[in-house]
Amino acid sequence: MIDAPALHLSGRATIGGTPIFGPLTLEAPAGEWTCLLGPSGVGKSTLLRLLAGLGEEVVFDGDLAAGDGAPLQGRVALMAQSDLLLPWLDATENVALGARLRGEAPQRDRARDVLVRVGLADHAGKRPHALSGGQRQRVALARTLMEDRPVVLLDEPFSALDARARARMQDLSAEVLAGRTVLHVTHDAGEAARLGTRVLVMSRDGLADVPPPDTRPPRPFDAGDTLAYQGKLMRLLMEAV
Ligand SMILES: Nc1ncnc2c1ncn2[C@@H]1O[C@H](COP(=O)(O)OP(=O)(O)OP(=O)(O)O)[C@@H](O)[C@H]1O
Ligand SMILES: [Mg+2]
Repeated sequence: MIDAPALHLSGRATIGGTPIFGPLTLEAPAGEWTCLLGPSGVGKSTLLRLLAGLGEEVVFDGDLAAGDGAPLQGRVALMAQSDLLLPWLDATENVALGARLRGEAPQRDRARDVLVRVGLADHAGKRPHALSGGQRQRVALARTLMEDRPVVLLDEPFSALDARARARMQDLSAEVLAGRTVLHVTHDAGEAARLGTRVLVMSRDGLADVPPPDTRPPRPFDAGDTLAYQGKLMRLLMEAV
């Protein structure tokens, strides 16, 4: 059993005096998969960066805490919107990067296993410039899964993938991250319909809770309730500003 805390964020954010988001209140339940959707520029990545302890440029006025009261530091993995792979390291070394940065022995065998699971067995020795955009994104996903943290923040993790790879990576992530507290930013209503146990739509007015089907994720992409929910969410996104 993973000891994954709930996430709580309540307040408003500015950069250089310009309002970015809020006031709003976000609750991501412990051990559940929360999807966050909303128009480009509304502040989703900024919110994730704050939760990850990054975003030095952001002035945040409010509360940000784990539900268990303990510090979040050291318990969060962020897969950023850009892949942030180091160009001079091969795929395996990029996946094992966290340990290296912490001064621990890199777990090359485990890194290679995770690369196999994201379908990159034949590309483990390649550096990022020799990988396609979708392959680079899967290396970044592998690095995030490798981190093995109780809180996982995913910023458009499957956006560069073809439909088949996307469905497979959704299934893999749902399996590997089960029991963790996941906050997943996506623009894809179908993806939220498959994966979310909680779905939030962010607009300039704050967050709207759009309860998904109460079946367990990952839901079949072609199930009637998944498709009906996808349509409903899409309609809301068309209205969100
Ligand atoms: N370092 C920065 N300096 C100034 N403004 C910034 C900075 N980072 C982000 N912003 C601004 O903050 C706003 C929110 O950006 P953010 O990246 O959080 O949006 P987003 O919801 O993730 O959008 P997208 O869906 O396009 O990824 C944007 O207007 C952006 O221009
Ligand atoms: Mg973003």
